[in-house]
Amino acid sequence: MTVFDHHDYDGHERVLFCSDPASGLHAIIALHSTRLGPAAGGCRFWRYESDAFALTDALRLSRGMSYKNAIAELAFGGGKSVIMAPPDRQLTDAMLEAFGDFVNSLRGDYVTAEDVGMSVRAMQVVARRTPHVSGLPPEGGNAGGDPSPKTAWGVFCGIEAAVRHRLDRADLGGLKVAVQGVGNVGYQLCRLLAEAGASLSVADIDEQRVDRVRDEFGARAVALDEVLYEPVDVIAPCALGAVLNEVSIPRIGAPIVAGGANNQLATDADGRRLFERGILYAPDYVINSGGIVSCACEYEGGYTEREVMERIAEIGPRLERIFLLAEQSGEPTNEVADRMARQIIAAG
Ligand code: NAI
Repeated sequence: MTVFDHHDYDGHERVLFCSDPASGLHAIIALHSTRLGPAAGGCRFWRYESDAFALTDALRLSRGMSYKNAIAELAFGGGKSVIMAPPDRQLTDAMLEAFGDFVNSLRGDYVTAEDVGMSVRAMQVVARRTPHVSGLPPEGGNAGGDPSPKTAWGVFCGIEAAVRHRLDRADLGGLKVAVQGVGNVGYQLCRLLAEAGASLSVADIDEQRVDRVRDEFGARAVALDEVLYEPVDVIAPCALGAVLNEVSIPRIGAPIVAGGANNQLATDADGRRLFERGILYAPDYVINSGGIVSCACEYEGGYTEREVMERIAEIGPRLERIFLLAEQSGEPTNEVADRMARQIIAAG
């Protein structure tokens, strides 16, 4: 397993391999950039096929966080951590405390929070060992807590912007949306879309989660391997990454892809594939930045819930600018967003 020669190594400042035999913790913390401030980004708990897959995830996700935080105008750099699930898939408090010790050893250069497989309670356990953690229950009128409803709110604002731009429609009543993955973010997104009058098709490997959105929001359950190809207005990937690739893109019929998952494009070239098919793609790290905006405001302190929601709503106009720039320059939206992010980081 290589690091400096790794395909996804992008000048990352530090990559910390964390092992704690007493608890069984195996984790990787990747700090892509601290140029704009402490590297902020969540912690993922996942059963990886090998250490190499975990490293790839940490490298790609942390670079995405640098871009996400830069475009969201946060005074934070980009980092991400992954905890490799053991064979019994149990995440113990001892593992979370050991992880907290590793985060603390970075003396504030990395700030962690929830990602896939994590919860507010898990962050409370990490917080026993380090103050450099966000996504904790709000205190004293300050904003904070579980970032996923905030992520979903940002994705909802982004879908509105994409629909306005591509379909010239101002409201979402009757809009057809297919949501892949109805976990923390996907569920909250379904709620907002249903309240706006959209009709939903959903798929998730967890049948109970599908039942919940079917019962609560009248969503239609569709097959796991068909959800991306539904004849709808918007595809919203809200599960894991790399779902937009050379196999899936030719089969997508929807005019818009706008969802909450990180690293939706398998490769940068897949952004161009979407563009060439005339599909409007909302770059993932732009549309899904609501959660990190909430975590950053919580970590800095002094923001009300309303101020945070208003800041997240800026995702809509921000995406609109990217869509217009892409149209004017004849470039895919992901390339426009990447360039903007790199310029912001380089300017420091
Ligand atoms: P989650 O673990 O609560 O939900 C993910 C859901 O996807 C689960 O219900 C899971 O069963 C389902 N899933 C997994 N593989 C699937 C497949 N092949 N087909 C269909 N469903 C599948 O995670 P969460 O927090 O909702 O995150 C979802 C995505 O959003 C991830 O990519 C995450 O990195 C990203 N994200 C989450 C943020 C947050 O605030 N939680 C912030 C920004 C991005």
